[in-house]
Amino acid sequence: MKANSEREQEFSSEFQELVSKQENINKKPKKFLWGVATSAFQLEGSPYADWSTWDSVFNINPQITNHYQLYKEDIKLIKNLGVNAYRFSIEWSRIQPSEGYWIKNVVEHYQRIIDLLNENDITPMVTIHHFTHPIWFINKYPWHKRKSIEKFVEYIERLIENIKGVDYWITFNEPYLLILGGYVEGCIPPGIRDFNLAVKALKNILNCHSKIYDLIHLVNPHAMVSIAHNMAVFNPWTKVNPLDRLIAKVATDFYNHSIINGFLTGRVSLSLPFQKSIEIDVPIKGKLDFFGINYYTRVHMRFNPLKKFFVEFRHRDIDGHGLTDMGWEIYPKGLIKVLKYASTLNVPLIITENGIATKDDHKKIKFIKAHIDALEEAIKLGIDVRGYFYWSLIDNYEWLHGLDARFGLYRVDFKTYRRIYTKAASFYSYIIRSRKFPAQ
Ligand code: BGC
Repeated sequence: MKANSEREQEFSSEFQELVSKQENINKKPKKFLWGVATSAFQLEGSPYADWSTWDSVFNINPQITNHYQLYKEDIKLIKNLGVNAYRFSIEWSRIQPSEGYWIKNVVEHYQRIIDLLNENDITPMVTIHHFTHPIWFINKYPWHKRKSIEKFVEYIERLIENIKGVDYWITFNEPYLLILGGYVEGCIPPGIRDFNLAVKALKNILNCHSKIYDLIHLVNPHAMVSIAHNMAVFNPWTKVNPLDRLIAKVATDFYNHSIINGFLTGRVSLSLPFQKSIEIDVPIKGKLDFFGINYYTRVHMRFNPLKKFFVEFRHRDIDGHGLTDMGWEIYPKGLIKVLKYASTLNVPLIITENGIATKDDHKKIKFIKAHIDALEEAIKLGIDVRGYFYWSLIDNYEWLHGLDARFGLYRVDFKTYRRIYTKAASFYSYIIRSRKFPAQ
């Protein structure tokens, strides 16, 4: 038997080794995340996803950009930009095309993407849920049914066990848009129009976030987990009209703030004009390692008694920055406003999406410059922003707008799948090289 002192000696050198390994991990150069963002379905479609039957584009062009086959070439495009991070999603319906099935090859495919990114020093940020579902799930277990939690978490448990090499996770992309589109407007799957069901669905989704947050941390205690929340600036259509002002305030509280308060308190309070607010208790308090913000535009709100919830909204070109091809106002200052509010969360902020749909390269360059200037101003104000992801790497499918909304830094010819380098891509690379933002 070894003497105690000998064992202590051994233990102490093992411990020293562990500590120095840990120090090495911590010594990894810290950097501001300069990235580009995409989502799987928007790049590669999927015959098993609810959206492929929702929009006729997929009858003509089911592969969209054919990224599923061309991912290696696309990673080269990412590398060429000089970014150090890439946000993308995993398409659930390809992994589980039918209930109970698990297509291992598909998981391996996404793992190859992650490995390739890591080998190229590009930090992967993985979005678990970006709007689409397997058809069987949305038909049998839509989000307003409690069973949706069990089914989704079952999938996530298995996914997390099988995916390695990811520190940054987004559980849900824009849960509010999903709920407003899918359960209030009914314009996206599951196409329901029922506010009570919308509240149930949101509650179940946030419960899933909470469970997934814990699951990821069990496997990787250093993981950085968030949602990506769409934030916008809401102004009254007419400043002197108190009803327009009220509608703008209600929209801001509902759309921007209620989720932030949810992460701060564990209670999401949803108010509608002239109605008692609805309180949802969800176990999400503090379940956030950073906060992902998708910022695009400002909206002008008007009281209209003939509209649902008395709300009407429009985009207007007030400051002269113009409108995008989708008719959205370009409003760079709004980025500072949303960052300021989100900073009340006291966690690092990452802009997980910001971009413009336009065929005009010059306009895209002006958009990028103005938004990065705004970001710089926010950082100078002391707001803890750790990353910026331009949406999107290449042109892709835009929900309900087909293939014509050109967000890409690389243009795509959807017939030949050719990618074309643009001046905007070159400008973004230049920005990355020339702006020095604080590292993490
Ligand atoms: C979504 C993206 C979308 C982009 C532009 C975001 O709301 O996350 O999927 O393409 O906005 O509309």
